[in-house]
Amino acid sequence: MFRRIPLCSHLLIVHALISVSLLSVFVQAQELSDDQLALVCARLVDGAKHSWELGTRAQTILAMNATRYSVLSVSNSLPPPSTIPDSLSSPMDTFFQIPQDVVANRSQSNGNITGPQPLIKDMSAADPASIGFAVLIANWTGQGGEDYAGAAKDQLDFLEFSVPRTSDGAISHRVNQVQLWSDFVYMVPPFLAYYGMITQNRTLLLEAYNQISLYRSYLRDTSANNLWKHVLLGSSQNDEGHWSTGNGWAAAGMLRVLGTYKNSQYSNTLKSQQQDLAAWVLEIHAAMYPHLDNSSNLFTNYASQPVTAEGNFFDASSTALLASTVYRLSLIWGTHTYLPYAERTRKALSAPNTNSSSNSTLEHFNVDGWLTPVVNPNSYGEQGSESPEGQAFVVEMQSAWRDWVADGSKGANGAMRLTGDNG
Ligand SMILES: *[C@@H]1O[C@H](CO)[C@@H](O)[C@H](O)[C@H]1NC(C)=O
Ligand SMILES: *[C@@H]1O[C@H](CO)[C@@H](O)[C@H](O)[C@H]1NC(C)=O
Ligand SMILES: *[C@@H]1O[C@H](CO)[C@@H](O)[C@H](O)[C@H]1NC(C)=O
Ligand SMILES: *[C@@H]1O[C@H](CO)[C@@H](O)[C@H](O)[C@H]1NC(C)=O
Ligand SMILES: *[C@@H]1O[C@H](CO)[C@@H](O)[C@H](O)[C@H]1NC(C)=O
Ligand SMILES: *[C@@H]1O[C@H](CO)[C@@H](O)[C@H](O)[C@H]1NC(C)=O
Repeated sequence: MFRRIPLCSHLLIVHALISVSLLSVFVQAQELSDDQLALVCARLVDGAKHSWELGTRAQTILAMNATRYSVLSVSNSLPPPSTIPDSLSSPMDTFFQIPQDVVANRSQSNGNITGPQPLIKDMSAADPASIGFAVLIANWTGQGGEDYAGAAKDQLDFLEFSVPRTSDGAISHRVNQVQLWSDFVYMVPPFLAYYGMITQNRTLLLEAYNQISLYRSYLRDTSANNLWKHVLLGSSQNDEGHWSTGNGWAAAGMLRVLGTYKNSQYSNTLKSQQQDLAAWVLEIHAAMYPHLDNSSNLFTNYASQPVTAEGNFFDASSTALLASTVYRLSLIWGTHTYLPYAERTRKALSAPNTNSSSNSTLEHFNVDGWLTPVVNPNSYGEQGSESPEGQAFVVEMQSAWRDWVADGSKGANGAMRLTGDNG
């Protein structure tokens, strides 16, 4: 849908040249080159179709190419400029294609109903809201053609009034029953927080924190050193396992809410909430990293289970996502505890290929730029082959790492600062 053919064919040529001539460079390399990263991005564009993939992809465009509009950049006061700076017009055009396409197709997707409705019809109540952030920026910057404010309002009202909740108020991840998924934390609270910031509604901003707090109260497994379970309640699809990507979604969602609070006009009145969010991200790092496999430097799909457990396998996708959250926590909150682990995983994911039967230059990417090995994004217990979200997580890891290097690579050598508060 958003394929950009000229760029793709250019990249294939570049890649072919790299493949034949520059192998020796990559033997030394511990980072992805710009060309390799562009190939990763091109596969993300090809692959992102589902609601949460579009929402997640939108964030990568900001993280990599338009950081002024990312809530994760430390010096970005909110709200952002309502006029797009000329220097960002190209990445922001790419960004706005996503909400434009989604909002233009919204009526058809939802059968022409009016009033509360998701941005895309979906069995998940949460996933379509991940696109809401981009819809809010489209409205804020006055993009024409569609009623972005109305679409955002309908999405918000759908979450608030149509989606079932637990008795204590946690909004369900599913439309037709109450079920809580760790993924929710990335899909919904960042939208609520940004909506509250833009419309100057502190109640709504705070609701993002409340939802995270409720989800943590259900999904955090104190008998597993605070790893989060994946799916609780509901009549089917329960998954009490400690799904690695789910732990990553939770940490990454919390960081986006933390960034929104910290950069917003309400920062001074949301101090304790920011402290909690930073502590909860660190809590996930402290739960996850002891399970990192020492030889591959990857997490398994279910972090607390060894790779030899039935059905388990190494998962580069969650490994990249978690690494991105370690760099971001360092940048946003000055907590550098798990930086040495993130660095180990990033270098492992950037390693050159030493397998002569494979024609890729990289161990963890195939020749077309797809990350491997990865969990199937549509079936969380199975290994897959082409994961759009995995591509997005690589971009998030790489962008966060770039920003962290620019910030002086703090904590790279393991210097510990357990409770930083630079806000
Ligand atoms: C960022 O810009 C580069 C250079 O134009 C492009 O190759 C890449 O796809 C962009 N990244 C994202 C996530 O859009
Ligand atoms: C929605 O409206 C379009 C255009 O008027 C129409 O073609 C389509 O059949 C309608 N869909 C439903 C489910 O009513
Ligand atoms: C849409 O943008 C306008 C500023 O142009 C702002 O006043 C309004 O609150 C925004 N609405 C939403 C739902 O974000
Ligand atoms: C702020 O948001 C809350 C929750 O959505 C809503 O009930 C309230 O009416 C909003 N306040 C204003 C002034 O819009
Ligand atoms: C080497 O690459 C081939 C072809 O992709 C693959 O079948 C094989 O499993 C790889 N071997 C190792 C040790 O990864
Ligand atoms: C090498 O790459 C090409 C292009 O993606 C692919 O068709 C072919 O199967 C690959 N060969 C091996 C041995 O992996």
